[in-house]
Amino acid sequence: MKEGTKFFPNRQIGVGAVSISALQKQYVNQALDSGRLSAGPFTAAFEKQIAQLHGAAAGVMMNSGTGALQVALQALKEKYAWNDGDEVIVPALTFLATSNIVLYNNMRPVFVDIDPATYNINPRLIESAITPRTRAIIVAHLFGLACDMAPIVEIAERHKLRIIEDACEGMFTEYHGQPVGEFGDVGCFSTYAAHILVTGVGGIAVTSDPDLELLMRSIMNHGRDPVYLRIDDDQARDPKVLSEIVSRRFSFVRLGQSFRATELEAALGMGQLGEKEAILAKRAAHAAYLTERLKEQDGYRTPFVPAGYRHVFMMYPLLVDASKLSAAEVTQYLEARLIETRPTLPLLSQPVYRRLFGDIEDRYPEAKNVAHNGFYVGCHPSLSSEELEYMADELCEAARLLGRAG
Ligand SMILES: Cc1ncc(COP(=O)(O)O)c(C=O)c1O
Repeated sequence: MKEGTKFFPNRQIGVGAVSISALQKQYVNQALDSGRLSAGPFTAAFEKQIAQLHGAAAGVMMNSGTGALQVALQALKEKYAWNDGDEVIVPALTFLATSNIVLYNNMRPVFVDIDPATYNINPRLIESAITPRTRAIIVAHLFGLACDMAPIVEIAERHKLRIIEDACEGMFTEYHGQPVGEFGDVGCFSTYAAHILVTGVGGIAVTSDPDLELLMRSIMNHGRDPVYLRIDDDQARDPKVLSEIVSRRFSFVRLGQSFRATELEAALGMGQLGEKEAILAKRAAHAAYLTERLKEQDGYRTPFVPAGYRHVFMMYPLLVDASKLSAAEVTQYLEARLIETRPTLPLLSQPVYRRLFGDIEDRYPEAKNVAHNGFYVGCHPSLSSEELEYMADELCEAARLLGRAG
């Protein structure tokens, strides 16, 4: 670009952006006009589509990805009669909701270090974390890249462990041609702002186990008797069925949650589904551009995509070479130039985790390295080519200005 014409953003280049299409507005208005705000036809359609796209029989829409994960684990705990204090393996690097939900379920998270190449849980380290009290593995497909599921499924089968896939960052990501969400007992997705599909708030748990589907529908709905889980469940014409429903519909059979979403979130989601491939293509193109610009830049490590994986780039993570650059200095530099950043999901150094578990980070050196020497920037479809070029220019400039001789 010529001197004097250099692009400078007039607003922050965020890690996510919201852009509402005409179809989304039409669907939201349709939901509003219908007078039906709690789970109705949009919710049912969205649940079905997300489940199908992830190779599962059913989806249960909730208020958040965290809600979906929490309910999924509670359902598994009830189905398999696990005890308080039983253990669940989780990655040592993830958004903290992945392991918070183990604590909410009165179980114990057992951390496992990550693979330094992919930043996802390292399957080779899982077996040594298994004890007689281990019941499940929660994998998290971080930044939009699937975990190495074949060895994880094999270990889980051999040790009779259940699997929850935290796919909150990995909607539509694929592992050797198979979508995530179909490897575990339950797969959980978030549609919060900045995710692949954005509905404001929202989450979906998908499963092919009808027991788990019913348990999850009950748990997210105050633990209600499954005879009545939606407001049209009492439309039965058969008087015997109707009397059964009426007598049981205000009956609560387990300790549940109030984690429902509304038709408005589902309408936003349905209005976006048709753009799925365009969204993924744009994210892939943005990531390819940033990688092309940065791969020769001294000081950065660009994302690695193993052969046979489809990375959906919910964000674009970068590691710095700590002998040459400081992630804190680079992110300060970028933020001052209106490029929003986030750290690459530090978990064990979070104040709340240090309080709960003490100083355990050194036991997980790869997670510690990524947590302290990484950051991510946005990779969403709304980024313009000027913004992407500006981001790449500033990342290179930051390395040039802030780099120490290696
Ligand atoms: C890996 C992971 N798990 C869980 C969640 C929680 O999703 P939500 O914010 O919808 O509760 C997120 C959110 O970003 C996430 O990144």
